[in-house]
Amino acid sequence: LRQKYLEAIAGAGDEAALEDIRVAAVGKKGEVALKMRELGKMSPEERQVMGPKLNALKDEINAALAARKEALGDAALDERLKTEWLDVTLPARPRPAGTIHPVSQVTEEVTTIFADMGFSVAEGPQIETDWHNFDALNIPPHHPARQEFDTFYMHREEGDERPPHVLRTHTSPVQIRAMLAQGAPIRVIAPGRVYRSDYDQTHTPMFHQIEGLAIDRDISMANLKWTLEEFCRAFFEVDEVELRFRASHFPFTEPSAEVDLRCSWQDGRLKVGEGDDWMEILGSGMVHPKVLEASGVDPNEWQGFAFGIGIDRLAMLKYGIPDLRAFFDSDLRWLRHYGFSA
Ligand code: PHE
Repeated sequence: LRQKYLEAIAGAGDEAALEDIRVAAVGKKGEVALKMRELGKMSPEERQVMGPKLNALKDEINAALAARKEALGDAALDERLKTEWLDVTLPARPRPAGTIHPVSQVTEEVTTIFADMGFSVAEGPQIETDWHNFDALNIPPHHPARQEFDTFYMHREEGDERPPHVLRTHTSPVQIRAMLAQGAPIRVIAPGRVYRSDYDQTHTPMFHQIEGLAIDRDISMANLKWTLEEFCRAFFEVDEVELRFRASHFPFTEPSAEVDLRCSWQDGRLKVGEGDDWMEILGSGMVHPKVLEASGVDPNEWQGFAFGIGIDRLAMLKYGIPDLRAFFDSDLRWLRHYGFSA
């Protein structure tokens, strides 16, 4: 019996086989148990010899089962370690991470600076009614300014009842929307995409502007000047800037000014605040009374300034990017070079 079971145990290939052997040998109805039951029929002398022998056999089989079980477990573990090993010294697989586009980066920077000055963010649609884009901004249908904008008009089918729409040519229509929605007083900025049919090294048919609008009872041109200077100091990270307000004309502001920034170019990098060059960075002025009127704001009670900054232009200046067209080519090498890490 001993020989038979010890051999079977040694030959068992897995835990299930071991369990079968255990039941057959030392289970309640196993062979060893049956033999033990026979002890009762034996003479006391026989029992004294056989009892300890059977008990020892039972112990020996249990021990053999346990040992074999452990050996099988070790073998299984060895097998797993062999097939499922990890090489912790292997270099990690590269996980391609995108970059933040300079336009997004600069939009974020500009928005943060104006938010710190108490401006909140407003938005408007890129497909705009020509009323918001032109009429409400004091540009009536046959005004020459409509030509200057190189507008993209939305196609209209015969009998279309909807008002005519354009791809907005500037963010100024958001002035109208913000005032209609919030009234006065108001301080908002509105970053976004704008469209004009134009294409060369510094013009793309889609580009970005950020509009600013501040209306209150006694806001003046002086407030505009301070706000823009403060913005330039923060944006270009310099202690002093010099701005030049050049008389200009926009139908929606009176007076109007284009604003230039004193700068110089040193080794292809822009130096702000010193030098003999002037870089135009924005258009601005005091909001025209007709624009306030069209927006439901009483021009006898309220006044204020507005400005429109070219975001892409700012990005080119601050980060020394030469060609605007490359901004929108989605060339991965360009994006890696000029992009910002998240
Ligand atoms: N909307 C003008 C442009 O696109 C800029 C501007 C905005 C001028 C606000 C004055 C006031 O050129």
